[in-house]
Amino acid sequence: MATKVAIIHTAIRWEEKAIMRALDRCGVSYIMLDPRKEPIDLSGHERYVNVLFLQRSISRTLALTTSLLFDLMGYNVINRGFPTLVSQNKVLALATLSRAGVSVPRSYMIYGYDSAKKAADRLSMPFVYKPSNGSWGRFISLIRDHEDLRIVSEFMEVLHDPFMKVSLAQQFIDKGDRDIRVTVVGDHAYAPIYRVNRDHWITNTARGSEAVAAELDPELEEISIRAAKAIGVEIAGIDIFEDRSEGYIVNEVNPVPEFKNVSRVTGVDIASLIAEYIVGRLKR
Ligand SMILES: Nc1ncnc2c1ncn2[C@@H]1O[C@H](COP(=O)(O)OP(=O)(O)O)[C@@H](O)[C@H]1O
Ligand SMILES: [Mg+2]
Repeated sequence: MATKVAIIHTAIRWEEKAIMRALDRCGVSYIMLDPRKEPIDLSGHERYVNVLFLQRSISRTLALTTSLLFDLMGYNVINRGFPTLVSQNKVLALATLSRAGVSVPRSYMIYGYDSAKKAADRLSMPFVYKPSNGSWGRFISLIRDHEDLRIVSEFMEVLHDPFMKVSLAQQFIDKGDRDIRVTVVGDHAYAPIYRVNRDHWITNTARGSEAVAAELDPELEEISIRAAKAIGVEIAGIDIFEDRSEGYIVNEVNPVPEFKNVSRVTGVDIASLIAEYIVGRLKR
């Protein structure tokens, strides 16, 4: 049985410090593991004894690799490897959510100009063109006409990384000047915030959107928990659009959520909720 926590990280931000303090308060011991500083033994000579891994790496590559790795080695890791892989990939995530009955924006996987043009015929303009594995609102384009589509496709064409070319053509959701972030820990949804941006349709906090506390109505709570369960993540930030006619639509599931702004504007101590959830997991 695991008795202590290893926090996989690449930086110790406000969130990681808050989790460390909360674990201290709960009497849970922990070690810090930065995979850029510590080699990880693969041959079974050095074992982590009684450790549960908590994934907090900012590097998506290291988060994915180490969650998969420790999972494959038989350790408990939050979040597990495969759910991390699916949630980091918008194509796989949307397909998984949709299959579980969670409403998602109408979306097509595209790869190159030919498939993009056919997707454009099926979606009305403007639509959104985004890479399957982006974050912080990077590389996301609004395609207003065929000229935009040609230009974005040409730039995609010269990318060296073929994985980056796996993209989504997605219906533009008329979500007003905000989206919603709900934080899920275990079986519960907490502390929704609006991320409001009056200047730009991309509402990531990293783009300077303002965080404002929102209310957790039963529908929002239900769709958030259902989204996390569908992907299989235990701790997650669920990004949700509120469509004027269709209601709540899940945009994505973030497996290593930031929550500084969430805690600041809602007063909900997410770090303590995570620590308490870990205490429960250590007993299992
Ligand atoms: N289909 C869409 N309709 C309207 N806005 C969108 C759409 N897709 C993305 N956005 C805006 O762009 C932001 C970033 O997109 P997202 O898919 O969450 O990628 P990232 O992983 O970079 O956060 C969203 O929070 C939202 O504000
Ligand atoms: Mg997002």
